[in-house]
Amino acid sequence: MERRRELFGGRSAAIFALAGSAIGLGNIWRFPYMVGQTGGAAFIIIYLVCCLLLSLPIFLAEAIIGHRTQAGTFGAMEQLAPGTKWKWLGLLTVVSPLIILSYYSVVGGWSIGYLWQSVTAGFHASDIGTVSSAYERFISAPWRPLFFHTLFLLGCAAIVSAGVKSGIEKFNKISMPLLFVLIVLIMCYSIALPGASEGVAYLVKPDFSKITPSAVAAAMGQSFFSLSLGVGTILTYSSYIRRDENIFVTGLGTVAFDLMFALIAGFAIMPAVFAAGIKPGAGPGLIFETLPYIFAKMGAAAPWLSAGVAVLFFVTIVFAAFTSAISMFEVGVAYLVEQRGLSRRRATVLIFIGTWLLGAVCSLSFGPLSGVKIFGQTIFGFCDMLTSNFLMTFGGLLFVLFVGWKMDKSAVRDEFTCGGTARFNCAVFDAFWFLLRYVAPPAIVIIFLTNFLA
Ligand code: PFF
Repeated sequence: MERRRELFGGRSAAIFALAGSAIGLGNIWRFPYMVGQTGGAAFIIIYLVCCLLLSLPIFLAEAIIGHRTQAGTFGAMEQLAPGTKWKWLGLLTVVSPLIILSYYSVVGGWSIGYLWQSVTAGFHASDIGTVSSAYERFISAPWRPLFFHTLFLLGCAAIVSAGVKSGIEKFNKISMPLLFVLIVLIMCYSIALPGASEGVAYLVKPDFSKITPSAVAAAMGQSFFSLSLGVGTILTYSSYIRRDENIFVTGLGTVAFDLMFALIAGFAIMPAVFAAGIKPGAGPGLIFETLPYIFAKMGAAAPWLSAGVAVLFFVTIVFAAFTSAISMFEVGVAYLVEQRGLSRRRATVLIFIGTWLLGAVCSLSFGPLSGVKIFGQTIFGFCDMLTSNFLMTFGGLLFVLFVGWKMDKSAVRDEFTCGGTARFNCAVFDAFWFLLRYVAPPAIVIIFLTNFLA
């Protein structure tokens, strides 16, 4: 059945959408923390190299599949390798983003809850212990987090059901520039705080002694997560890019935006953390414990300014989470529309119900269901571990093997070089081909083993 597909309007729309998927919580809390712990500027250099030599080729492999077939994950595999076991890769990459979306939506919901608090009451705790116990109470109480999880997913559903152009493209075109403006404003505030210079030093002072093999593996893993690789979101979004668009330039643009945002986020967060006299910590704790405490502490000296920055900060988090979440939502919707013949609206409702249910169980695993353990982890922890440690890397490895070793080289070259018309792409194709075939597969296995043994 021939179905007319909606496409993104042009290059900037495509880059905004892809960058929207990539830029998320990974850039705001994970990257700054990793930089500080793993050698400051030295880590940034390694991260840059990983992005260009490893993650960009993997990104392009996924993008090439989507762009060439103009189909979602399952349809793409059926087109390029009909009747083979590769269809399981197509299915895996429908399921894994939906699992991620389920628990990502829980954290997205917490961010809306904190945004609400920053608007209505602000943060006033006098010590970090009080902030931490408020956070514990918030996430373990059953109803409020469930309410915000529902709100977050409803937001995603509304955008996705409006379509590729009037929903996803429009939302990203507004949100992405807004996100950059907000994060730069927060960075200016943060760097101007008294005592911020120590935080700046934390990020820029290179400490090469901390560059160990495990730090390199961590940089590879972070670039993988940050660029949303291995779960079909890049493939699906690339299938909405016009056939005459240069996929290499689009990929480069996306990686550059993602990297830039991560760096600015580092300078927005760490100086404030140091200015408040706190040792930097990892995980959701940074966003929901450390930062509210900083806002409370700074509020004592400049209440209005601090309250305003708190609101801007949580707006940033909520929007960053939204732009990533809709890319995962879209993978499932594209599958149901293209492979099962459902209308976009009906597909959206089904994906909403499925992810809401799994997300609700994840949310309750901080409270009433905290006793339920899978491999020693709560349900939320298990979903997170399963997807970010295993399914993402496994999917990424299979995509790379598919493009590098199974697809016809001339088809890959054709796609990469815009049919031989893009001269710069022609010049770098051999390097891309080499990285894809010989560097990416062992590197992904290293990331996988590092995650496994961690
Ligand atoms: N890249 C996102 C981040 O850095 O927060 C996370 C993510 C989004 C992972 C979309 C996977 C995905 F499909």
